[in-house]
Amino acid sequence: MQTKQDAVRVGIVGFGTVGGGAFRLLQENAGEIARRTGCPIVVSHIGARRDRDDLDTSKVKVSRDVFAVVQDPDVDIIVEVMGGTETARAVVTQAILAGKHVVTANKALLAEFGNELFALAERHGVYIAFEAAVAGGVPIIKVLREGLAANRIDALAGIINGTGNYILTEMREKGRSFAEALQEAQALGYAEADPTFDVEGIDAAHKLTILASLAFGIPLQLKKVYTEGISRLTTIDVAYAAELGYSIKHLGLARRTAEGIELRVHPTLIPRERLISHVHGVKNAVLVQSHPVGSTLYYGAGAGAGPTASAIVADLVDVVRAWREGQGGRVPHLAFQPDELYDTPVLPVEAVHTAYYLRLQANDRPGVLAEVTHLLAEQGISIEAILQKPAHAAGQVPVIIVTKVVQERAMNAALAKIEALVDIVDHVVKIRLENLDA
Ligand code: HSE
Repeated sequence: MQTKQDAVRVGIVGFGTVGGGAFRLLQENAGEIARRTGCPIVVSHIGARRDRDDLDTSKVKVSRDVFAVVQDPDVDIIVEVMGGTETARAVVTQAILAGKHVVTANKALLAEFGNELFALAERHGVYIAFEAAVAGGVPIIKVLREGLAANRIDALAGIINGTGNYILTEMREKGRSFAEALQEAQALGYAEADPTFDVEGIDAAHKLTILASLAFGIPLQLKKVYTEGISRLTTIDVAYAAELGYSIKHLGLARRTAEGIELRVHPTLIPRERLISHVHGVKNAVLVQSHPVGSTLYYGAGAGAGPTASAIVADLVDVVRAWREGQGGRVPHLAFQPDELYDTPVLPVEAVHTAYYLRLQANDRPGVLAEVTHLLAEQGISIEAILQKPAHAAGQVPVIIVTKVVQERAMNAALAKIEALVDIVDHVVKIRLENLDA
């Protein structure tokens, strides 16, 4: 157990945007942090591939070999912020085996290997804290694990990738191209090293995997998340959606149903009157629907050095407080007791229920629309709104249809027949729509 006067010594593994941010924050707010923990937290060793000339590390041991940090007896807690999964997995495993608590921002590592790492940590009496892994500075992990612990969580919907949301916002508000907006987000330090993780929804799937486990008490199951990116989204659909009163957001959705759990990341139309549809730029937000509290919304900066460091240092404060009390970490890693996680089935995407925005290119002939609506009706699909635009040069009309909620399997069956009609040109654009009402 720590004595009152001892400083807790932290090793930071990875010294990029996030690691540097945590180092800076521990210095900037050292006084406030020590008042909260009851002892100073000092960085004693940094594992970094290269030096940073914007930060004074002259009083800290710096190693090129990250494992030297993990094995250093003068390091009590490891902050793993290197990203990637291969070396990070070895670093975290070695830290646990060396009896060190771990604070990590690595959502990919936890989504892929969290089940084994948490089990190992539990066997070795250490804790893995991961507030920074989801939604940067928004304390959504603490909300799901602690603040809403009395609730039955029914659904959550999140804008959990700042880069994607920044791109969608820039495209809509400033007419920027997808590539320009992505470049800006990268320059601002928001994007993942591989930007396809952001724009193809992989980063959001990592985060959704973690949130769903905490919400429903299920193991981490990244492979079961249906994932669709924003790279094929066109400005024309963004504009038509707006005309119909919707914003398009890249949403991560987890919902408990009688049949199983829906886990999906995809572009989604949201009614403009929902607060979450006004979350712009790099900001993140998570809407949680639970009983008895109802809908609650958590909003803030989801990426960048300061916000992510805020979450890392908050985790350090939690771990240090518990440690000084002689506890390994009081809250179960996945919110529910490890032997109380259920194998609730995760539904394939064909089994999910959602509403749809459809855009068809139809030859401008009498009866085409009647054929389309007949094929929808055949599958029990009810129409909420329909919008036909004037014919353009080629004699084709864009038709936009918004449907009521239906099972995806029925929608796919209807679309296969609609696309086979001779007067329907090209593939039908299909974007899911969620009303997000309680
Ligand atoms: N690339 C991520 C994002 C960083 O844009 O949200 C935070 O996880």
